[in-house]
Amino acid sequence: MTGFTTRQVHAGAIIDAETKSRVTPIYQTSGYVFDSFDDGKARFAGMSKQRAYSRTDNPTNTVAAQRIANLEGGVDGILVGSGQAAIATVIFSLANAGDHVLTTKLLYEGTREMFRGSLQRQGVSSTAIDEHAQEDAWLAAVRPETKAIYTESIPNPVGGVTDLGLLSRVAKRAGLPLIVDNTVATPYLCRPFEHGADIIIHSTSKWLGGHGSVIGGAIIDGGTFDWEAHADRFPQFTAAGAHGRPSAKERYGAAAYTGYLRWSIVIEYGPTLPPTSAFLLLHGIETLSLRMQRHIENTHRVAKVLVAHPAVARVHHADLPGSPYRELAKKYTPLGAGSVVTIELAGGRDAARTFLDSLELTSQMTHIGDVRTLAIHTGSTIHGKLTTEEKAEVDINDSLVRISVGIEDADDIIADLVQALDTL
Ligand SMILES: Cc1ncc(COP(=O)(O)O)c(C=O)c1O
Repeated sequence: MTGFTTRQVHAGAIIDAETKSRVTPIYQTSGYVFDSFDDGKARFAGMSKQRAYSRTDNPTNTVAAQRIANLEGGVDGILVGSGQAAIATVIFSLANAGDHVLTTKLLYEGTREMFRGSLQRQGVSSTAIDEHAQEDAWLAAVRPETKAIYTESIPNPVGGVTDLGLLSRVAKRAGLPLIVDNTVATPYLCRPFEHGADIIIHSTSKWLGGHGSVIGGAIIDGGTFDWEAHADRFPQFTAAGAHGRPSAKERYGAAAYTGYLRWSIVIEYGPTLPPTSAFLLLHGIETLSLRMQRHIENTHRVAKVLVAHPAVARVHHADLPGSPYRELAKKYTPLGAGSVVTIELAGGRDAARTFLDSLELTSQMTHIGDVRTLAIHTGSTIHGKLTTEEKAEVDINDSLVRISVGIEDADDIIADLVQALDTL
């Protein structure tokens, strides 16, 4: 089973022993009956392959998590309630109050808000580094209390492609895990573990789910970070567990990170995904490659038309000739740099309002990665709390409209966008 499309349909699937159901069922249950007193004890101690409670372990969720882990080339995965929950869970597992995280400057605004808001308040500080910075600048920003480097393979919303190789070199020299949010690229377009990432995060609400029907998040362990070599910085993976139990490393080997996550962070904070959501997510994943091919084909056609329209001052997409990210896109996303196209309208904010209010097929809403084409004025919504200067720092301005290109017929998408642009 080597092909991506075969794996997206079959990897991690279990056939229910009782019913032989071909499709992974929704195991809508809180818990699992113990065989005996001693069996219950072993399950609670995480020393049994049997499950205890659905907060940490549910069969439907496990199939979906294993499938994403397989597509990413990781050793294990965990599903959580949303992309935001995935980010928080990962940071909670690595950083304590007083610790510090390095991030790239261009990130999804919800992630930036978490780093500058709640995490900062809880004592985890962060430094955002310009995406054009070279290795030395990154290394100079590493502090003794730095615990990770955090980035997005394709930053939302202005596109571009991150130099994962450079960040991986920095992370290895500094002895830090590299965390990559691979939501916009999906494992079909980019596999960050092949470029030195250690932990991958997804908002599965986007292209993995694909149908805009379910919120979710995933954390995938590459099994690549040497926790033993950096035990002074990350004692939680190598120190003996509670009541003299073996360490996460001893118990879970290469999957020590997800073992610790499941049995310490997820069990304590409880960011669990409902199994009905995992079931819908699985259905989305089964068609991921086919949808991504169509998303990319449509995006390239749409971008070409937008570039030529006089009402559009600028089009951001890393596959466009002249994009400053074109070389990085060829290296890290050779099949296409995602299906988000961001445009700047010549008429500024007023033009954005008229354009968005004139769309008919395209939905004006916050979300990306849906089978439907979606558009939003991020400056008055997602980035609405930022001042003009703060927006400029993250390459946002009020003439900007983000378009998530769907899988409808390209001619229909183009006709809708062009009729709305023609009103300007
Ligand atoms: C790149 C990226 N990461 C994470 C998230 C958060 O995901 P969720 O909405 O599932 O919490 C989003 C949401 O838009 C996103 O675009």
